[in-house]
Amino acid sequence: MIWGLATSHVPSIGAAMDHHKTDDPYWKPLFDGYAPAREWMAEHRPDVAIVVYNDHANAVDLDLVPTFGIGTADFYAVADEGWGRRRVPPVIGAPELSEHLVRELMDSSFDIATFHQLDVDHGLTVPLSVYCPEPGDAWPCPVVPMLVNVIQYPQPTAARCHALGQALGRAIRSYPKDVKVAVFGTGGMSHQLSGARAGLINKEFDTMFLEAIETDPGKLAALTREDYIRDAGTEGIELIMWLVMRGALSDNIRRVHDTYHVPASNTAAALALFEDLGAKGTVVL
Ligand code: DHB
Ligand code: FE
Repeated sequence: MIWGLATSHVPSIGAAMDHHKTDDPYWKPLFDGYAPAREWMAEHRPDVAIVVYNDHANAVDLDLVPTFGIGTADFYAVADEGWGRRRVPPVIGAPELSEHLVRELMDSSFDIATFHQLDVDHGLTVPLSVYCPEPGDAWPCPVVPMLVNVIQYPQPTAARCHALGQALGRAIRSYPKDVKVAVFGTGGMSHQLSGARAGLINKEFDTMFLEAIETDPGKLAALTREDYIRDAGTEGIELIMWLVMRGALSDNIRRVHDTYHVPASNTAAALALFEDLGAKGTVVL
């Protein structure tokens, strides 16, 4: 595992890139904040990315919502979310790695739904655009989509997401092939899209979370779903997906870059990039 990236997935961040608006005064501060992370990631290219994200009722019907899922396909189409498909490359899968992860996680007592066919929505494609703004005909690497239900009550606990990440990390490290892996944790930060508190932003909570995701993930894992919804908003609970990414990283990490900007659409948007330096005291072969 070479790095972990936490990033918001607001659809309009993708639309700003698709419609060449990144230099507009509204968007420029956000994209300027991404620049150092993008430069570093371009120099540290993974062979495969595991993107922990949530579908927003585009591919997953609300009649049947798995708590955790993994895509096992060799190809994922870009979802049409109502405005036509984003003009970004299709997502190439890594089915052998998917199969390994599903088996290892099942053996670690995580009951994972498998998606043999999946149209990926902004929850996955916007983070890929944050990583790679100009992919040309193809994204820089294949992707394993990992889905977490954050939209239908009761969502998994933050503690369960952190434990899933730890099991994911063990599964990645036990993969017999020599591949460089990056893990994305997506969504957040504080936001609420509907109801009386629509537009909620909580900078104090976000600042605490941005710090603790590096230094004290256990503190974040101890928060209840109600804590997340109260403090970060009904959609701010997406932040539990950052804990899957953080759990997968070793304890020996370095913060490469972070940035926080309000507003991007209705959200507080952030990015945090961590280099994984490997297990302390052991030789990483
Ligand atoms: C917005 C944010 C999201 O996380 C999302 O999934 C959809 C929309 C927004 O702020 O517009
Ligand atoms: Fe979302």
